[in-house]
Amino acid sequence: MSSGADFLQLDPAAAPSVGRATWLAARIHDAVVAGAVGVGEHLPPSRQLAAELGWSRGVVVEAYQRLGEQGLVTARSRAGTRVALVPAQPAPSGAPPVTRAAGPASSTPPRVDLSPGVPDLDLFPRAAWVHAEREVLTRSPSSALRYGDPAGDPAGDPGLRTALTGWLATHRGLRTTPEAVVIVSGVAQTLALTAHVLRRAGHRCIAVEDPGSRGARDELAYWGLAPVGVPVDAEGLLVEALHAGPARVVLTTPAHQYPTGVAMSPRRRTQLLGWASRSGGLVVEDDYDAEHRYDRAPTPALHPSAPESVLHTGSVSKALAPALRLGWAVVPEHLRAAFLEAKHASDIASASLPQLVLERLVSSGAYDQHLRRARRHQRSRRDVLVAALGAVVSTVPGAAVSGVAAGLHLLLELPGVDDVALASALRDEGVVVDPLNRHRVAPGPGGLVLGYASQHPNRLRAAAEAIARHAVARG
Ligand SMILES: Cc1ncc(COP(=O)(O)O)c(C=O)c1O
Repeated sequence: MSSGADFLQLDPAAAPSVGRATWLAARIHDAVVAGAVGVGEHLPPSRQLAAELGWSRGVVVEAYQRLGEQGLVTARSRAGTRVALVPAQPAPSGAPPVTRAAGPASSTPPRVDLSPGVPDLDLFPRAAWVHAEREVLTRSPSSALRYGDPAGDPAGDPGLRTALTGWLATHRGLRTTPEAVVIVSGVAQTLALTAHVLRRAGHRCIAVEDPGSRGARDELAYWGLAPVGVPVDAEGLLVEALHAGPARVVLTTPAHQYPTGVAMSPRRRTQLLGWASRSGGLVVEDDYDAEHRYDRAPTPALHPSAPESVLHTGSVSKALAPALRLGWAVVPEHLRAAFLEAKHASDIASASLPQLVLERLVSSGAYDQHLRRARRHQRSRRDVLVAALGAVVSTVPGAAVSGVAAGLHLLLELPGVDDVALASALRDEGVVVDPLNRHRVAPGPGGLVLGYASQHPNRLRAAAEAIARHAVARG
């Protein structure tokens, strides 16, 4: 007779003689809800669990399959079966799976989180990362673990800066040198350091796209640069409004405007660089998610056209994971010394071990391989969400889906809808979305900024259904 399994203290004697797979799936489901098994944790191999329970392996395989169909677990042949999301109660049914995610307190825990800006973290290339890290630890001398690079340079690891110089040349068209590249802890740090440097140079304000990233705007304001909104239209930033405004620096997302998804037109690019050269202005180019492109031609970076007027920045947050806090700034020569001084004063230099690992991934081609895989995956999720939003588009007056050709999010335009109230109602139902007006400097037509990359298709459909219900009632 079986003595049961250590895993969840499963006692086969408590299971019914018929419907064991259902019983087992329900026990695992409940354990995940109760937090006994967390997202990312492995379930025991089916063969092992079956042996411990004294059942045939098929029963356990069937239970895992059912949990997989609900999106609760993912199975990869070599990596095994892992918990993929935390379902809301009750026990499994045919209903779409739902998730609990972090977010401001609310009466119902979020079950679908469409907050933009996060890639599918289940795709993180764990094996490649571990492989590269092992290589780095095996080959690097102990001196690699001291402060900054051997010369005590806050710019970061020279090998990574060289690898990124090559990557930025082939993927973004930049013609730069490792000397111009500074490794930072994400675009967020580039903005903080740039704001600091500019304030010291006498700047008090910065032009930002309207709508534009609320997070970036708040950060710049925190560091002492007052954001001045410049409207965005179907060609991108409205450059003529820059001429009229007080700012001599502008933050822009030309490859994939955040959050509208517009790619800046060639005409506007020329106008923008003309403004910079005539006014001595600086363009901060936030290339935050340019590597995710689906059905449009690559949009070149602005930097190659005017390297002394453009401070280009990007990171691995949307390509690998935001938790790495690893990015780059390509800094014009006239700002470089001040930027490096601010970097040194801020944190001496970025953590070296992740830099060395990223260098391996970029140089070995593993980074590109991951990007190709992520692109296919995200594109299919985008297609699911676009199709599922068809009901909203066909029933709510003026509704449209835009900004779908690239990135990790799309924009559902809902011009006649109070998007903040809509987002709040959806949150009460456990669906987290970002209202477009949160990203606007001046209030304007409503919309929802919907991140699709990290969500299981069933959850995307469930969210679209909830959005349709609420938007129709308010449209
Ligand atoms: C437009 C935009 N810029 C920058 C960032 C910050 O990126 P990082 O993680 O590199 O600091 C984000 C994050 O969501 C973003 O949406």
